[in-house]
Amino acid sequence: MLDVEKIRKDFPILGQQVYGKPLVYLDNGATTQKPTIVLETIERLYNKENSNVHRGVHHLSNVTTENYEAARKTVQDFIHAEHAHEIIFTHGTTSSINAVAFSFGERYVQAGDEIIVSGMEHHANIVPWQMLCERKGAILKVLPVTEKGDLQLEKLDDLISEKTKLLAVTQVSNVLGTINPVKKIVKIAHAHNVPVLIDGAQGIQHEKTDVQETDCDFYVFSGHKIYGPTGIGVLYGKEKWLNEMPPYQGGGDMIKKVTFEKTIYEDLPLKFEAGTMNYIGAIGLGKAIEYLQKTGFDDIIAREQELEEYATSRLMQIPGLRIFGTSDHKTGIVSFLIGDIHPYDTGMILDKLGVAVRTGHHCAEPLVESYGITGTVRASFAFYNTKEEVDILYNALLKVIEMLG
Ligand code: ALA
Repeated sequence: MLDVEKIRKDFPILGQQVYGKPLVYLDNGATTQKPTIVLETIERLYNKENSNVHRGVHHLSNVTTENYEAARKTVQDFIHAEHAHEIIFTHGTTSSINAVAFSFGERYVQAGDEIIVSGMEHHANIVPWQMLCERKGAILKVLPVTEKGDLQLEKLDDLISEKTKLLAVTQVSNVLGTINPVKKIVKIAHAHNVPVLIDGAQGIQHEKTDVQETDCDFYVFSGHKIYGPTGIGVLYGKEKWLNEMPPYQGGGDMIKKVTFEKTIYEDLPLKFEAGTMNYIGAIGLGKAIEYLQKTGFDDIIAREQELEEYATSRLMQIPGLRIFGTSDHKTGIVSFLIGDIHPYDTGMILDKLGVAVRTGHHCAEPLVESYGITGTVRASFAFYNTKEEVDILYNALLKVIEMLG
């Protein structure tokens, strides 16, 4: 069992008041808070160890390079990748997906080919594929979602054709909280020789991820959503793809030899890490993962599930409240509307009561519009949240109804 009181002390930001009310931070889907160990690490790195990676012969550069490569190993172990060089550091989920869309697209996608995404994707897992399709004259196809918020997997076989080059799907929906059966999806896609990219932005922090067991071809996530710094993310790709794909950016550190006639690229992972990387971010991300492992990742997962279930049961007691995303497999997220109260109005009042939530389409406009609405209020939980905070949300929503209902 987690000692939540002790854990909350590791996240100094949680202890503050807003508008004279204790902060109830329920916007973890947008970004998570950072434990002291991550903040201290970043401060120590800038104060004592800062130096560029892979470049110097001097002491500081070697120390930072070692720490950077150790962070890569930490990520490798955390998602159980076969090789450390299959872990590419990027700026975040969006840049990881754009990298694959560009690089994989450049190598494998032709006019008339097809890319499949699901109807519950974040814009980050729609727009880069649309841009690729536009560039190449390819076609974007969409796997539909049920009213409850599950993928209509029985339609996947028929959706895949000989022209399908890649399937990109989220691990957990950032609007509905649905946990998708990614292993099953990969199995279906692979039966048609179609590689799969999993968007782990909302999954990595709520689920144990094993890229070898899932057998996905690409897996991407952001550091800031798993208690690490902003501006750092991960692209995992199977070695066989990454070796064949061209680099998507050129510059320093990704080359073996440059002449004006020809450049020979570095081996993995450096081939995909042009320019000065966010090495402080990467090392900070490694620390965040270590913190989660030390705290007990299984307990973290169980706690977030419990908070989501408790919040669902509490919120369902509110008259006129409708929850979007009622899958049997959910975690961490509850999206809702109360009667015809605009989500923005609900969010504004909640804010004044100290409760931070996200409102709107959550960068998943096609999904949200499929429910015939323009947005929801979204409470998203982390393991440092408490049932008392859910109760504060509940009471704050009663206040919203009192004022606007
Ligand atoms: N993608 C983040 C969210 O869902 C920002 O809120």
